[in-house]
Amino acid sequence: MLKTIGVLTSGGDSPGMNPAIRAVVRTAASHGVTVLGINNGYDGIFEEDLIELREEAISHVLERGGTMLQSSRCKRFYTPEGRAIALGKLRDAGLGGLVVIGGDGSLSGALELHRSGFPTVGIPGSIDNDLWGTDMSVGVDTAANTIMQLVDKIKDTARSHRRCFLVEVMGRNSGYLALATAISTGAEVAIIPEYRVNVERILQLLRDRFERTKGSSTIILAEGVCDADTFVQRMREANGSAAFPQEVRKTVLGHVQRGGVPTHFDRMLAARMGELAVIGLLQAESGVMTALKKSRLTLLDLESVIGKKKHPAPELIRLARHIGIEFGDPVEV
Ligand code: F6P
Repeated sequence: MLKTIGVLTSGGDSPGMNPAIRAVVRTAASHGVTVLGINNGYDGIFEEDLIELREEAISHVLERGGTMLQSSRCKRFYTPEGRAIALGKLRDAGLGGLVVIGGDGSLSGALELHRSGFPTVGIPGSIDNDLWGTDMSVGVDTAANTIMQLVDKIKDTARSHRRCFLVEVMGRNSGYLALATAISTGAEVAIIPEYRVNVERILQLLRDRFERTKGSSTIILAEGVCDADTFVQRMREANGSAAFPQEVRKTVLGHVQRGGVPTHFDRMLAARMGELAVIGLLQAESGVMTALKKSRLTLLDLESVIGKKKHPAPELIRLARHIGIEFGDPVEV
């Protein structure tokens, strides 16, 4: 009989982690299971920094971004020796299972614990949407909305000054946020790691557009390709001694993309995943991750998830092509 489980958030925080923690605590409570929150990611296991999460602790957290449990990228947990210590501490704390909310690295940790015989269920929480096997991770929708709103604002000034804005967005090695927000903001170009653009072609496109419309243009650049300064430099080199047809400015959105009030979609996804994670542990599942596939939630083996590269969905690529976004050709792997 499962009596006590732990929950932790690890890696980069993402909006929706709090609603996921809340759903874990509430679902566990409705089955008479106590939840201990582990503070500051896997580091909290080593520090024995655990607190019981009762109803009061999780009230009014739904609408708060970030993670109430705090998060870290824990170096000690990467080594087998470190993990053995952590395993002992989890058992000493009386935990019979653990819910890990985080991205690829954090869920690899959950898989390692499972391999050592400790029951774990992962919830994909990351703004990058780079976890294979799930259509969306908790936090992606909020981050995409934040980017969309910021680019809308940038476009106001871009239009007023006939400028071209290059906007660098997060995503680590994934182009999802860049491509999806290029679609939702009407950007002319998306530069993503999975595809390679031809800089001359982009310049020609911008030139033609400027001649035709005398208007602004927007390029969304995924950080996984290069930083904004490097890309502006590439544009200058490709343009040679000629002046750009319009002024080019860059904006790096940075960590503002990770914060903010989780959207309805993220709160629902987090609640559903939090609930399923606890049901999974109660049903003796382990080494699995909650995953969204075509609107349905399932549990997937982490063995089949970790280490796989998630590619942009073919429908997203087709849509971007059909509505005229320039994003180049697939990078051969
Ligand atoms: O994984 C989430 C993420 O925000 C990435 O998009 C980004 O590359 C990275 O984390 C930034 O990490 P940090 O907050 O440690 O600088």
